[in-house]
Amino acid sequence: MEKVVSGIRPTGNLHLGNYFGAVRSFVKMQDEYNCMFFIADWHSLTTHPKPENIQSSARTILAEYLACGIDPEKAPIYVQSDVRETIELYLYLNMNMYLGELERVTTFKEKARQQPDNVNAGLLTYPTLMAADILQHRANKVPVGKDQEQNMEMARKCARRFNNIYGVEFFPEPENFYFADKAVKIPGLDGSGKMGKSTGNCIYLRDDDKTIRKKVMRAVTDNGPEAMNSPRPEVIENLFTFLKIVSAPDVYSYFDEKWNDCTLRYGDLKKQIAEDLCALVAPIRERIEEYSANTELLDRIAARGAEVARASAAATVDEVRRIIGFRR
Ligand code: ADP
Ligand code: TRP
Repeated sequence: MEKVVSGIRPTGNLHLGNYFGAVRSFVKMQDEYNCMFFIADWHSLTTHPKPENIQSSARTILAEYLACGIDPEKAPIYVQSDVRETIELYLYLNMNMYLGELERVTTFKEKARQQPDNVNAGLLTYPTLMAADILQHRANKVPVGKDQEQNMEMARKCARRFNNIYGVEFFPEPENFYFADKAVKIPGLDGSGKMGKSTGNCIYLRDDDKTIRKKVMRAVTDNGPEAMNSPRPEVIENLFTFLKIVSAPDVYSYFDEKWNDCTLRYGDLKKQIAEDLCALVAPIRERIEEYSANTELLDRIAARGAEVARASAAATVDEVRRIIGFRR
């Protein structure tokens, strides 16, 4: 069966971008593939060198994964730092990655701009660590959002290069997986590009109904449609992106027609999105609360996940050592 792996950094609560871009794919894939999902706590050190409480932020994401519907019986969940085998693979892969190509990665350039006093080597080799996360399980598919495309390209490069240098067909080239064939980008509702923790424009899976309504009703709009069947400006298209993703197709068509014949009232559109979002998020939020209260269960799930992940990674690393020529 094809293998799947993916992870998210524990730098805050999960938001709708994480959910639609990644976690809902995790849930869908667990029934069809051999999946493992993890919490990328090492990766968060590239931007947060001194995290406040590593354990509790990992538990937070774990509870959120479970609340979204990941079943650890089908897809083990583990914490990245519990699998030390990853570091050995990271080291070997780094020997074949070049400074020039790592420096050209857009996320590296962006982070270097955002934290000019901390352009650390971990940030530079972020894609290598991500490749090690994936290749240690010899995974075939990786569910991630659009912003991870370049990191995925680097992971394929690592796999290809290793195979070429040692003359083996050992690592499969991992493909991106998208929920509906195409990457989605969940926009921010404040008129700025994408929803993301660093932009402070997120709707979180933990938000209550009132907060969700407030955030949606505050979404940036314009003066309204001015000519029949005109193209939608970005801020309005952003609202329609939400509508498409959370509301029924006939509801989408209804508002689309209203836009086209210039009778659309943004207040109605926002109310619809807010109600449909609340209906989606409320049961997840309740489950997050239940799981969060049960730290014993969370720790048991993570311990079991670590066992499975370590066995899988150790088998790969043993083989890699043999291929390179080390004693096993
Ligand atoms: P953030 O941008 O909030 O820091 P992460 O970078 O930790 O989020 O992303 C975790 C996962 O969620 C990745 O697979 C990423 O592609 C996906 N993701 C994050 N934000 C969005 C978004 N706005 N639209 C689609 N996917 C997203
Ligand atoms: N870079 C990913 C993000 O920011 C997190 C991540 C780390 C990851 N290692 C991975 C995702 C391996 C998929 C597979 O969201």
